[in-house]
Amino acid sequence: METSVIKKLNGKIEVLSDLEALSRRAASIFVTTSKKSIETKKRFAVAISGGSTPRRLYWLLGSEAYRHQVDWQHVHFFWADERCVPKDDEASNFRTAFDTFLSKIALPDKNIHRIKGEEAPDKAARDYEEEIRRFFGESERPGFDLIILGVGEDGHTASLFPGSKSLEETVRFAIPVYLGDPQKNRVTLTLPVLNNADQILFLVAGPSKASGLSEILGDGERKEDLPAGLIRPAHGKITWLIDQEAAGKLGKLRSH
Ligand code: 6PG
Repeated sequence: METSVIKKLNGKIEVLSDLEALSRRAASIFVTTSKKSIETKKRFAVAISGGSTPRRLYWLLGSEAYRHQVDWQHVHFFWADERCVPKDDEASNFRTAFDTFLSKIALPDKNIHRIKGEEAPDKAARDYEEEIRRFFGESERPGFDLIILGVGEDGHTASLFPGSKSLEETVRFAIPVYLGDPQKNRVTLTLPVLNNADQILFLVAGPSKASGLSEILGDGERKEDLPAGLIRPAHGKITWLIDQEAAGKLGKLRSH
């Protein structure tokens, strides 16, 4: 399995041969990080994303090979974002996680802190923020132990889209994102929360991501317009797991 590592400011980029290799690497990072966090904090608070790229990771976490390696009693699941649909809807990020692994692991129901996509977007966002405050403490800006993110072809991450006002939010932890069609509306964690994580793990695969990624990881001026380029954890670490195809335009970055 060919892996090349590029050191970056407070983080690194690992280029892996394909989605399977990337997913297995992500699963081992999940297991290791969960052990460290539970040892030191007696809990592992992780926020996960939707989309297609993390699905293989989720299958692996629910599989015989991995599900016994994590002390699920101390793991708490949150979401980086959710679609405003009922939890059993095909498009629901909760449903994706439930079908792929949450239904296969010994996780107490009280450890699932989902975004209620069936609610009105603003109410869902406020309820979610209350849930986060209950878990992390009223006054605290939440410090997730790990946040798993993806990148859209347009450079969006979670449900923070290029040019959207949601990128300017500095107070709320979670906000609604209105995308015209109510079925398409979302609720997302905000930049201050994402950038307060101890560890960010980006999973990016496929040729359609190569152009955006070269902008986000390069030093081009467009970097600031692409939300994934604004993920810079203040005190945390960021790891980019990228497959060969998505790394196709990282050219000079890889020549270091
Ligand atoms: C979502 C995600 C979103 C996703 C990107 C990449 O709810 O869709 O949270 O931010 O990570 O759109 O999606 P793919 O992995 O499908 O390319």
